[in-house]
Amino acid sequence: MKRIIAVNGSPKSAESTSGALIKTLEEYIGTTIDSFRAVELVRREDAHKIIADILKADILLIVFPLYIDSLPAPLLKLLTQIEQTAKACGSSLPTVYSICNCGFYEAEHNSLALKITRNFAKRIGANYRYGLGIGCGGALAQMKKGPVDNVYAALRDMGNTIKAENSKESEDVFVTPKMPRFLYRIGGNIGWRQIAKKNGMLKQMKATPHSL
Ligand SMILES: Cc1cc2nc3c(=O)[nH]c(=O)nc-3n(C[C@H](O)[C@H](O)[C@H](O)COP(=O)(O)O)c2cc1C
Repeated sequence: MKRIIAVNGSPKSAESTSGALIKTLEEYIGTTIDSFRAVELVRREDAHKIIADILKADILLIVFPLYIDSLPAPLLKLLTQIEQTAKACGSSLPTVYSICNCGFYEAEHNSLALKITRNFAKRIGANYRYGLGIGCGGALAQMKKGPVDNVYAALRDMGNTIKAENSKESEDVFVTPKMPRFLYRIGGNIGWRQIAKKNGMLKQMKATPHSL
């Protein structure tokens, strides 16, 4: 059985979409995926030991949210550390897959960030398989069926590809849930209001502190 390690690039301590995607993929593959949160790993004193172990895995999954059309800073830092360790690594490196989810509607916003992870894999001399870009990331935390069926189908495909041991590099895949853009927007606005209320910030929602 292959050893699969995931790096969760979401800085959220709980309930991240990235974490949920790793769990779902684990169910589809039927193998335990050891998962590390980038934000925690980069702060650990023994990070170099864990990174050396990550590089011994068969598969490395980089799963993260899109931040300003790129990767969250702790994940970028971790990839830099992995690159340094990989230079000194004599053995073969894991095959890399990546999954990026974004808050915007269209999955294609993830294109650049996925290319960054593809470049990272090439730079360390690892095989890169493909990346999966997912739109409407906020909806995935709320839904498991219906409009998001295509997202879970794409995740299942990735699970099957991992199991099939096919290491041929291919094009990135982009999936946007099948829901009208206006509904996603309405759902997002309801979500923001609920979070603001929970944190006692509802009245400040319309504050414009920087306006003249
Ligand atoms: C600092 C920051 C920057 C973000 N930048 C983008 C962006 O450029 N494009 C986008 O579509 N979503 C952006 N988002 C939204 C996240 O990608 C989105 O909420 C995602 O679903 C979070 O995934 P997670 O739960 O795995 O962290 C940003 C969020 C934050 C906090």
